[in-house]
Amino acid sequence: MQKREELYRGKAKTVYRTDDENLLVLHFRNDTSAFDGQKVEQLQRKGMVNNKFNHYIMQKLEAAGIPTQMEQLLSDDECLVKKLEMIPVECVVRNRAAGSICRRLGVEEGLVLNPPTFEFFLKNDALHDPMVNEYHIRSFGWAKDEHIAKMKELTFKVNDVLTALFDAGGMVLVDYKLEFGLFNGEIVLGDEFSPDGCRLWDKETNKKMDKDRFRQGLGDVIEAYEEVANRIGLTF
Ligand code: TMP
Ligand code: ASP
Repeated sequence: MQKREELYRGKAKTVYRTDDENLLVLHFRNDTSAFDGQKVEQLQRKGMVNNKFNHYIMQKLEAAGIPTQMEQLLSDDECLVKKLEMIPVECVVRNRAAGSICRRLGVEEGLVLNPPTFEFFLKNDALHDPMVNEYHIRSFGWAKDEHIAKMKELTFKVNDVLTALFDAGGMVLVDYKLEFGLFNGEIVLGDEFSPDGCRLWDKETNKKMDKDRFRQGLGDVIEAYEEVANRIGLTF
């Protein structure tokens, strides 16, 4: 497999074509962004940590029967993935209230959401990722009914697998965001799962161990990501 030209540069990852039209290389950079790209900093080791973290999680999800785009780890900060036709919506499950739901609905951070709640957001920084519903997704042609249903089913299945994994490491999976795409007409989990796109709290102390440390200027961002990794059995 030969890496070819850059296809797309996101806020934290760069996507490259390869000599196989069905495969892409994801390069995880040290860039860390928040607030729709308004706050951006370079954090040492972040590309490596998130790349290896994502590969580890995707392997766990594959083992649980969830189709992912992951093919293999290529280097410290690169992995090989299937090329998906990405669906421009983000799927968010929340087990506890935090972040935007607290602002929108005036609920206190930490409120247990039982059953967990599900939200769709449109992936559009210029519009600040507005919340959308299934009617929007259908009317604007972002995804078909069967694919909407599959994304919801898989996002909740990920919740079962990862809630248990993080619980065993003494952490609460508060919420997370997933992105899906189509490969040969089938819904497949794409993008990444890392502490950049989820919230994780220490079960005993409620210490924040995710990107909220960066958003809120709490410090020790990558140290916290590394601790999360170590607690679920991944060492660097
Ligand atoms: P929110 O509280 O900002 O709506 O985010 C909910 C979770 O989803 C949180 O863990 C962060 C993640 N997320 C992203 O990583 N990127 C996004 O663009 C959005 C909307 C959420
Ligand atoms: N990842 C998004 C951004 O960089 C949203 C966030 O995490 O705040 O803006």
